[in-house]
Amino acid sequence: MNDFLWWRDGIIYQIYPRSFADSNGSGLGDLPGITSKLDYLADLGVDALWLSPIYPSPDKDFSYDVSDYVDIDPRFGSLADFDLLLSEAHQRGIRIILDLVLNHTSDQHAWFLESRSNRDNPKANWYIWQPPSDSPPIFSENGGSRRGVPNNWQSIFGGRAWEYAPERDQYYYHMFVPEQPDVNWRNPEVRQAMLDVVRFWLDRGADGFRLDVFNMYFKDTQFRENPRKFGLRAFDRQHHIYDCDQPEMIPLLQELRGVLDSYPDRYAIGETFISSREKIVKYSGEGKLHAAFNFEFTHSKFDPAQYVKYILDWETLYAEHGIWPNYVLGNHDVKRTATRHVRGEDDTRLKVLMSMLLTLRGTPYLYYGEEIGMRDISLKRSEILDPPGKKFCPLYKGRDGCRSPMQWDDSTNAGFSSTKPWLPVHPNHQARNVEAQQADPESMLNFTRSLIQLRREHTALVRGNFTLLTEKPKDALAYTRETPEQSILVALNFKNRMASVENIPAGNWNILFSTHQKVQSTVSLSTETTQLAPYEVLILEST
Ligand code: GLC
Repeated sequence: MNDFLWWRDGIIYQIYPRSFADSNGSGLGDLPGITSKLDYLADLGVDALWLSPIYPSPDKDFSYDVSDYVDIDPRFGSLADFDLLLSEAHQRGIRIILDLVLNHTSDQHAWFLESRSNRDNPKANWYIWQPPSDSPPIFSENGGSRRGVPNNWQSIFGGRAWEYAPERDQYYYHMFVPEQPDVNWRNPEVRQAMLDVVRFWLDRGADGFRLDVFNMYFKDTQFRENPRKFGLRAFDRQHHIYDCDQPEMIPLLQELRGVLDSYPDRYAIGETFISSREKIVKYSGEGKLHAAFNFEFTHSKFDPAQYVKYILDWETLYAEHGIWPNYVLGNHDVKRTATRHVRGEDDTRLKVLMSMLLTLRGTPYLYYGEEIGMRDISLKRSEILDPPGKKFCPLYKGRDGCRSPMQWDDSTNAGFSSTKPWLPVHPNHQARNVEAQQADPESMLNFTRSLIQLRREHTALVRGNFTLLTEKPKDALAYTRETPEQSILVALNFKNRMASVENIPAGNWNILFSTHQKVQSTVSLSTETTQLAPYEVLILEST
């Protein structure tokens, strides 16, 4: 493909480092472990790896509470291990995207330890400190007579978002657990320090960043109370208009983009907190982020009509604003695709979804293990590690389920580690693992690998225009992807029964890929309708 742009035309694979491969028998995955699997990843055909955080962390939110932005967690390795991973990845044409968690630090970060020690230290204003509500307000316009929390803001992980620090007789703000204090991005020194972190990793050769909850960096200067609304948890019972999405984010993104653009070929994608179409337009595009996530696929039903709605949303954003779409089926925060859509061990439905992900116009993100159809582990209450899981169980069991060790083989610890891993391996690893699937031509792994290959070989699948053939699909979803030179038709049956697809452009088509028919045979579609077998995936190229 000419002028291949890796983050637009390639496939990005998310690794949750502590669960991917353990090289030293600690029970936690690590960087040398990832390096040892680069050949596997190159063979799978991915173009970039997004690594969930790898920095030192006391693990109150499993590495999303960072205590040093410019080092590697010793349990994961060293800076030298990172450099080696990067150069070995680059040799294979694989880029590395780091996860930057710049909204908050760990409460053990040296900045916070200093900041909380008293009210006049050099870092006193590096975090968001407010007096109790009955002492003279700093900014608060709704003062209040209570000597309590400064306002009604809630933590998404449960409870109020303010924690009292007796050292200062003040509260600090934390959107996540109390051990994750939010930094004060309005302080120019903080802004400088954070941009230095970005430069540190760019100078080391990182190819890009995934910005954790970036649209929460700024909070209302007057700390106004969020208006109330109906919802289940306290957090959901508020309109989040004062604790996120403040206007100062735009100039910051422009500055950040300037830094990225001073290096060749770098990229940033934002995790849009409480994502929406409007926010994607606001935050991505020329001079801003290259991309912003939209998580609609991660909570969609197995229903082609729902997917169509989300796909058309992205297509509209592309047509109207030139924003290149991205698609995500799963990540470290949500139930795995397989667990959401399948009971038992059958992978037929997963093949339909994977086919959709890899043939749409937009960057596909794969979550580790998705290529072998990994399922969530289920844990007893006493085994839950994830903070929101501990807080909300049994209503919500947290995110441990989708973070279990990668299943490499059928041995006791699934080939992930020589010792008991930090989270249990899924019992299905005895049959569901990379080694077994490599040997099985019908496996999810070989299916995914061939589709990736197909995408790489057909520019139309990467860059081609998208035209929907089935506007209100009940059973089957069909679309074409076209460049002036190439026309490809994708038909996916989401139902366990025969389905017909109409509006097919008549003509002769070669079968490029099929779950039911012989590849390469020419089919002539003159009737504008074709029948699909239950859960059939059919990809044709016009001859
Ligand atoms: C993001 C991460 C999530 C983490 C949170 C706090 O949402 O994806 O895993 O818990 O930010 O950093």
